[in-house]
Amino acid sequence: MSKQISKHVSWVGKVDWELTRFHGDEYSTHRGSSYNSYLCRDQKTALIDTVWQPYDHEFVSRLKQEINLSDIDYIVMNHNEIDHSGALVELMREIPDTPIYCTAKGEAIIRGHYHKDWNFVNVKTGDTLSLGQTTLTFIEAPMLHWPDTMFTYLSGDNILFSNDGFGQHFATESLFNDTVNQEELMYEAMKYYTNILNLYSPMVTRKIKELLSLNLSVEMICPSHGVIWRDNPMQIVETYQRWANAYKEDQITIVYDTMWQSTRLMAEAIADGIREATPQTKVLILNAAKADKNDILTEVFRSKAVLVGSPTINYGFSYAISGLLEMMRGLKFKQKKAAAFGSYGWSGDAVKLINEHLQAAGFELVNEGIKCLWVPDTEELNRCREYGRQFAEL
Ligand code: FEO
Repeated sequence: MSKQISKHVSWVGKVDWELTRFHGDEYSTHRGSSYNSYLCRDQKTALIDTVWQPYDHEFVSRLKQEINLSDIDYIVMNHNEIDHSGALVELMREIPDTPIYCTAKGEAIIRGHYHKDWNFVNVKTGDTLSLGQTTLTFIEAPMLHWPDTMFTYLSGDNILFSNDGFGQHFATESLFNDTVNQEELMYEAMKYYTNILNLYSPMVTRKIKELLSLNLSVEMICPSHGVIWRDNPMQIVETYQRWANAYKEDQITIVYDTMWQSTRLMAEAIADGIREATPQTKVLILNAAKADKNDILTEVFRSKAVLVGSPTINYGFSYAISGLLEMMRGLKFKQKKAAAFGSYGWSGDAVKLINEHLQAAGFELVNEGIKCLWVPDTEELNRCREYGRQFAEL
């Protein structure tokens, strides 16, 4: 079903209620997602982005109910990852000569994915395409989050089509930011930022500065996933400015894995110590092998400090902690403190190795960490509690 969202624009995307994993298995989507595609109809008609490949037939057949496909004059591809370009092959089968407006990198990516010689028109920042009373202006946004990414601004209706930027994996029937649970929306927006954009925070800051300097009147921000920001659309831009600037709340997250509960006991004792020292600080304890990895990363994103714990296993550390440390390295968190802890039986290498990984991931190590031999007794747990107190004070 399509939905008219402004005088000239209707939403013609796909809400994916079933999606539980995105980017293969890299990103959990507890609330589904949507692939937003928009039809701008003026004297000329432009289609902005398509949908993920599994929905290509459904997308094209619904689009046919909305418009005679040969009436589409232009296709604009803001970003060409398969969740947005996936229906192009099916669509271009019907209208093979329709020009595709994208960046030069976008053309290379489409060619690399689909191996078709379509009618590409490369655009750069400031290039425009008149639709009649309204005009599309292109704004390149490389690495937000792929090299091909661009935003498109529609004057007249004053809409910024931002593709992945300002998106959320959040399936809704109602489509607009003011019609959904605000806490859920902002959590999904933060999870999206953490897992997809945090790495590119310096580019986010620069691009927003550039956008603001253009003094565009923005009545709606239409991303390619999740809700459309129509109520106070600039709120998400301002939020991104904060998130891109080494964001942190007064929170400490303790992430651990455990084999026979010793490292769990340490985690809980350390948490007790933190609470004693700084009762106002929110302390979260998460088992890396049981909690969702992307939710853990979102909690790391909003923390001022993290403690990572694992028992020593085979002269190393656990599988779950290993995967998480690799993701933490990739996301390049800024200005966060960290330390390692863990139980051991003989070699006790885990703490030292976790420290090395935390440091390589850009965390500031507070100290050399804490280890307990075998199962911690009351005295050892008191030592962990004291360690937590000192960690909080540092
Ligand atoms: Fe939603 Fe980068 O694709």
